[in-house]
Amino acid sequence: MATHNQILLARNHLASAQNVTILTGAGISADSGVPTFRGADGLWRNFRAEDLATPEAFERDPRLVWEWYNWRRELIATKQPNPAHDALVTLERQWTDRMWLITQNVDGLHRTAGSERLSEIHGNIWKVRCTGCGVISENREIPLPTLPTCRLCHALLRPHIVWFGESLWEEDLRRCDEVLRACDLLLVIGTSGIVYPAAGFASVAKDVGAVVIEINLESTPQSDLVDLSLQGRAKDLVPLLL
Ligand code: OAD
Repeated sequence: MATHNQILLARNHLASAQNVTILTGAGISADSGVPTFRGADGLWRNFRAEDLATPEAFERDPRLVWEWYNWRRELIATKQPNPAHDALVTLERQWTDRMWLITQNVDGLHRTAGSERLSEIHGNIWKVRCTGCGVISENREIPLPTLPTCRLCHALLRPHIVWFGESLWEEDLRRCDEVLRACDLLLVIGTSGIVYPAAGFASVAKDVGAVVIEINLESTPQSDLVDLSLQGRAKDLVPLLL
C-alpha cells in the first residue's frame, strides 16, 4: 500500500508541476466494475485476443467479433465513473490547457465523467466506423444487429477500436508526442504497461526530464523506471493526490 509519505511526495510533485499528462488503463475502470484485460478475471484470461481484437478476426468472422463487442457494450452500459475518473475531471477544470489525458480505455467512462481534454488512443466502444466509406459515428444502440451496416453506403460497420496489429490514429500519435514532451509530470494510472505504444510513454516523459508517478494495485514492468510507484486502488489514491 502507498504510504502517507509517498502520497505527500506525490502531492508536492503535482503542486510544483507546470504541465501534467495523465495516462490511464483498464485499472482505473476496474473500480467501476469494468473487467481488466490481464488481471485475475481479465478478459484475456477467458478470450483469445487474436479471435476477437484483430482485423484478421473481423475479416474471418465479423459476427463473432460483433457478438463480443455487443456483450461488452451491454456490460459497460451498466457502469458509472468512479472517484478516480471524477478527480481527473476536477484536475482538468483547474489546470485547463496545462493538462492532457491519454487513455487506452475504450469504455468512454472518462467522457461520461466529464473529461474533455483527452485522447482515446484505442478508440471508443460507443463509436462505429464504416468499412466502406470510413465514416465514424456515435452509436449507443444495444444490442446492435450482429452485422450492422452503414446508413449511408450499406457496407459493414466495425467497432471504432484500434485492434492488435493496427496503428494508432496519426492525430492521436502526434498529440501524445506533443503532450509527453511538454509535460513535467506524467501520472500513469492502472495500466500493465506492456501494450505499445503506451508502454513506451513513461520513457518518453523521463527522457524529457519529467517526473513520472505510477498508481497501480501491483508493481509493473515500468515500476523501476518511474520516480514514484504508489500501490493501491485508483479510486482511493487518485482523489488523494489531486
Ligand atoms: P491490463 O488489464 O493489461 O492492466 C490493468 C492494470 O491495472 C494492471 O496492471 C492491474 O494491476 C491494474 N489495476 C487493476 N485494478 C486496479 C485498480 N483498482 N486500481 C489501480 N490499478 C488497478 O489493461 P491495460 O494496461 O489498460 O487494448 O491494457 C492495455 C491494452 O491491452 C488495452 O487497451 C487493450 C488490451 O488488450 C486493446 O484492446 C487494443
